Amino acid sequence: MPAALQAPVPSQTFEIRRFDAPVGAEIVGLDISRPINDSDFARIHRAHLDHHVLVFRDQRVQPNDQVAFSRRFGPLEIHVLHQFQLKGHPEILIVSNIRGENGEPIGLGDAGAYWHSDISYKSEPSLGSLLHAQELPSEGGDTLFADQHLAWEALSPQLQARVLPLTAEHSYLAKYEELRAKNPWRPKLSQEQIDQVKPAVQPVVRTHPETGRKALFVSEHFTTRIVGLPQAESDALLAELFAHSVKPDFVYRHRWQPHDLVFWDNRSLMHLAAGTPDHLRRKLYRTTIKGDRPR
Ligand code: OGA
Ligand code: MN
Repeated sequence: MPAALQAPVPSQTFEIRRFDAPVGAEIVGLDISRPINDSDFARIHRAHLDHHVLVFRDQRVQPNDQVAFSRRFGPLEIHVLHQFQLKGHPEILIVSNIRGENGEPIGLGDAGAYWHSDISYKSEPSLGSLLHAQELPSEGGDTLFADQHLAWEALSPQLQARVLPLTAEHSYLAKYEELRAKNPWRPKLSQEQIDQVKPAVQPVVRTHPETGRKALFVSEHFTTRIVGLPQAESDALLAELFAHSVKPDFVYRHRWQPHDLVFWDNRSLMHLAAGTPDHLRRKLYRTTIKGDRPR
């Protein structure tokens, strides 16, 4: 049928409700597995830029639906830990503390143990990531989000002027061996994997490509040093910025509900897995959207 004769996709009825928190909103009534027309998509896109993290409630959807919805925002990343891809869906990374029959981990168990922005260790980090709840623990397992626009705006003018021209190195390997020592199931990286994750140099302050707002862009997980500063000075400045960037005034704590799909903007936020007691099972599916080179 010629496109002009196809019935237009009807709008879905859904609400966008801001959280009583520094960032974030929930989307109630939308079904991401049903067709989403351009005007609905524009509402969602706008809400994502305004609130930085959106919680789509009650998404009883399949991996294919998550992948298709994620793709509307851009091409997807395939994570370097191929061991943890969902079978048949290489775009989905399993984030889980569950072990298989032989005691082997079924997914990345300690994703997000330190504050970070996804894939900041690549020269083109992620635009945003989506996590879909599959299995939730009865306690713990929260995810925290810190608004890095607010963090930037709250810096003193002196500190703003000092950090604005700086760049910093981000490395996937920075905490890898430390995490592997705590979580021996973390695979030893092959040389090929190591070659894929060469450190990247990023601006300490980035400008959001869609909103033009500035954001702090350093993280405890991946940022190793400020380029051009002596190590001690770099360590002291990074420690100051890390502590500042995650103050409670900038943070939303997400308490997962069944079937939540959470979509955050890695250009605006850092996030942290608050931790799950070892004996409780937690499993989420992650899709990761590719982004631009930070400027
Ligand atoms: C991630 C991540 C946090 C969490 O998947 O990128 O950081 O709470 N997850 O699982
Ligand atoms: Mn993450």
